[in-house]
Amino acid sequence: MAHADASLVPSTITTKSQFWDHVYSQLESLLEGQRHWITNLANASSLIYNCLLAFPAYFGSGDRAVNWCGFYILPSLFPHPQFTTPTSSQPSVSRDKGNLLLGPFCGKPACQLINLQADKARGVCADAFIHGKTVIVRDVNTYPGHIACDGSTNSEIVCPLIYQGSDGPFVFGVLDLDCLALSGFDEDDQAGLEQIAKLIVRSCEW
Ligand code: SME
Repeated sequence: MAHADASLVPSTITTKSQFWDHVYSQLESLLEGQRHWITNLANASSLIYNCLLAFPAYFGSGDRAVNWCGFYILPSLFPHPQFTTPTSSQPSVSRDKGNLLLGPFCGKPACQLINLQADKARGVCADAFIHGKTVIVRDVNTYPGHIACDGSTNSEIVCPLIYQGSDGPFVFGVLDLDCLALSGFDEDDQAGLEQIAKLIVRSCEW
């Protein structure tokens, strides 16, 4: 099967539960044999995004479309190429834990940093990250601190990425989806995305 065909959604799939099971199994196949997190997050964002566009029962490509699907990650996880010697005039990537950095995504350009600092953190991604819990926002216009990367977005869901380490669970990023419609996401999407987030975390070296 060509890789792009992984994002096809058969017309026999009509419920969200069937849909998320399908995306899960397609992603499992797509990630097989590859453990680099950049590669896998890139394909995961594309697969989820394109499957949602191909699922008109709830999303599709019209005014209920998902318009963004991607990841924000702690900058300490980003590779640090050594091809050039940094000079004081070169901007450097912040590697502290005060921000999340934009990772692989599908959709229009988005904000690069999500502030996590105690007195400055705001927005849906920061809240999901700090509390380690999925946040469903049915109307982003009423969510305190919502960061509007795209004024067309009306609802959002953000699911934390949680690594189960020997010292206990460690939240190191989020999976974020935006929708053009109000109330685009519900608890069925939460259940599906949380399973997918677990699959992604265990399918990569971090
Ligand atoms: N709306 C998010 C910011 C990221 S974008 O939606 C891609 C937030 O409030 O954290």
